[in-house]
Amino acid sequence: MKKNTVCYTAKSLLDEVEHSSINGSVEVGFVPTMGALHSGHIQLVKKACIENQLVVVSIFVNPTQFNNKEDLQKYPRTLDSDLCLLAEFSNCIVFVPEPSEIYPENDGFEGVDLQGMDTILEGEFRPGHFQGVVHVVHNFFRLIKPTRAYFGQKDFQQLAIIKKMTKAFEFPIHIVACETVRDESGLAKSSRNMRLSDSEKIEALIIYKTLNYARLNRNAFISPAELKKSAISYFNKGNLKLEYLEICDSTTLEILEVNWSEFMTVSIAAYCGEVRLIDNMEI
Ligand code: PAJ
Repeated sequence: MKKNTVCYTAKSLLDEVEHSSINGSVEVGFVPTMGALHSGHIQLVKKACIENQLVVVSIFVNPTQFNNKEDLQKYPRTLDSDLCLLAEFSNCIVFVPEPSEIYPENDGFEGVDLQGMDTILEGEFRPGHFQGVVHVVHNFFRLIKPTRAYFGQKDFQQLAIIKKMTKAFEFPIHIVACETVRDESGLAKSSRNMRLSDSEKIEALIIYKTLNYARLNRNAFISPAELKKSAISYFNKGNLKLEYLEICDSTTLEILEVNWSEFMTVSIAAYCGEVRLIDNMEI
């Protein structure tokens, strides 16, 4: 089987990118991940490999985005099988750095004002999470200087925040949004699905059904608040424990109550047994 080039240090990565550049000009795609790869991640890599001559896939379990030490320790690390999944992509370099490579002392990152985008929805339940995401992606962007970077709509709040950060720092990087990959039943692919039993996988479908319910019935309600109320009672026919269901503006993430906006997303976070699942859909 073909093997990808794997780089463990920033220097070896930059040497490899330079070595692969034709006449010093190559379009580089970047796919940041935390590993435990599944078909959702692979879709991003596929797209990046089509659209760029060279692709860097990072596998880095970023400590600064975990607000809980135990979650960080328990995060699945499956490097061997990740590398196997990436082996089919011939123009791909895998970057597996140590924290000190990504967070050198005095890295100069001073944070960015996300104007509240980081304290609502997921941010309300995971304080500090998005500042950690922004920090690591910023440092990757500065190091790799990709032409395009690929993010999944599965994490639509992360995607909106990365777009904002990219603008704030004036990175000349095109942020490419990739559709959520689901299994045949509609359940969004996630490394957490491994922890669901067969019956929980069926119960978890109430998330996808509720998102569709909201999308299909949007016009039957006079306001987002009314739609939200109805979607929550639909959701509660299932057995999951709802953390939040919100309708928000897809770009600003402003939570909508009274007025509709042009592009809206319904998002849900809920517990299926012990497993916290998130999903969303544009409506
Ligand atoms: P991770 O959870 O590994 O996800 C890496 C990328 O894969 C993200 O852009 C995520 O949205 C995308 N992804 C995950 N599941 C998907 C699915 N079912 N369909 C489509 N895309 C999917 O997100 C992170 O890592 C980290 O926060 C990171 C951006 C790497 C920063 O540390």
